[in-house]
Amino acid sequence: MIVKIDGDITRTYCQNLCLIFFPGAKFPENEVQTGEIPEASIALKEENGTFYSKVTLFDGKTTAIGEGEGEVNGIRTPDRAKKLAVGKAFQRAGEVLLGAAPPWGISTGVRPSKLADELISKGYTREETLEALKSDFLMRDDKAKLLTEVNKRQKYARSILGEDTCSLYISIPFCPTRCAYCSFVSYSTPRYLATLPDYLDKLCLDIAEKCRQINESGKKIKTVYIGGGTPTVLNEKQLDRLLSTVVDNIKGHNILEFTVEAGRPDTVTKEKFDIMTSYGVDRTSINPQILDDGVLEEIGRRHTVEDFYRAYEIAVKSGIRSINTDLIAGLPSATEESFCRTVDKIISLDPQNVTVHTYCVKRAASFTTEALTGGDKRGIYSFFGDVSAVCVDYAQKALGGAGYFPYYLYRQKNAQGNLENVGFCRDGYEGLYNIYIMEELQDIYAVGAGAVSKFISPNGGKIERIFEPKYTYEYINK
Ligand SMILES: C[S@@+](CC[C@H](N)C(=O)[O-])C[C@H]1O[C@@H](n2cnc3c(N)ncnc32)[C@H](O)[C@@H]1O
Ligand code: SF4
Repeated sequence: MIVKIDGDITRTYCQNLCLIFFPGAKFPENEVQTGEIPEASIALKEENGTFYSKVTLFDGKTTAIGEGEGEVNGIRTPDRAKKLAVGKAFQRAGEVLLGAAPPWGISTGVRPSKLADELISKGYTREETLEALKSDFLMRDDKAKLLTEVNKRQKYARSILGEDTCSLYISIPFCPTRCAYCSFVSYSTPRYLATLPDYLDKLCLDIAEKCRQINESGKKIKTVYIGGGTPTVLNEKQLDRLLSTVVDNIKGHNILEFTVEAGRPDTVTKEKFDIMTSYGVDRTSINPQILDDGVLEEIGRRHTVEDFYRAYEIAVKSGIRSINTDLIAGLPSATEESFCRTVDKIISLDPQNVTVHTYCVKRAASFTTEALTGGDKRGIYSFFGDVSAVCVDYAQKALGGAGYFPYYLYRQKNAQGNLENVGFCRDGYEGLYNIYIMEELQDIYAVGAGAVSKFISPNGGKIERIFEPKYTYEYINK
């Protein structure tokens, strides 16, 4: 895509706006390349403290023009006013071209909740924050409200953080089989699963070393999260070894939440849950994604609805404090009706957490590669979201009506309809780790292949990230 700019606005900001309306667009290094479609031309000028912008979008067939303005005032800085002017012009041109406005307006990041947090920490009231999200970021009313609710629900998690705290993340990037919609770097072939014992040896050494570093730094670990992939792909003996290593190394820390994701119902056994609870694990995930055997088969989950209920019952009977269920709205071949019935059935089980993801077209997922190479259209992105939009809306209303609160939220590139992923909880059951990592409130020490440690600068500066080797064989041999 070609982006032509006349005025003082950054190219990155303009490219991010382009991606809202032309998801997946690429921006060639060499701007002189002509004939590239689509095309965006952005003009920006200032007159007496107000910025005016004109944006022209061309998708190969239609040219659409939008104009926008942004006024500098007591609260709106010149930088914000410029971005608003260009954003409004983009939004107006985009609406002409596509016939609809994106739900999140011109906000472009993964973490829109940070915007609400920023405004509230500047002294805005909740009402003023709501108004600013709508007027400065052009968010739809329901999305702006959702953000302020998420922010409200995070109050407790933020209040208990204290000085010098951190969390520990442990990665198990293995799965029993690969699901067709997923691009997560995780290993499921027999050849890779055979390396699990070596992986575990290395992981246990690294956990001890990481905890030594944490102790040396004087920080206190607040939450431990073992995620994947599918951590319960470990057999009982391996799980026992992993958890005893963790527990031995976190002595002296007052752990507020200890999560082990189970994820795939086909990996759940009563013995594994007994082991988990005996080591103090108090939070888990059992994920149906959708309660529809036809769709489960289609998406390659290799488990049935019945398997989900069996695994869920094991988790409940183990007495674990908090169970999460992950759902995906808008999965290829799933109908609105089937997803909405899933939401109702999950509510009737009364889990402490429900996370509603919007189906996201991932480039490396097999659905997408099939779609790009031929006839199968299941992995094709939709700007309007269609089924996903109805499903996300239904889930949010039904969960809200049943007494669940939205407590964390993030967006992903190429999510159908530009929609969000939201974690819901019962009162007092916020997943703390999810809030800390998503809002970047704490240092995260991460162990295992593909894991990323994050160190937060105390003055709000750049976050330092340390990446572990992506592939398990690299990690084992590190
Ligand atoms: C990293 S996965 C791990 C979960 C676990 N292995 C399982 O399959 O149940 C976390 C969650 O991301 C969501 N997810 C994965 N791929 C997705 C996609 N393409 N679009 C939307 N959500 C997705 C699913 O709900 C999944 O449970
Ligand atoms: S959805 Fe879960 S089980 Fe399926 S491939 Fe992704 S991480 Fe593995």
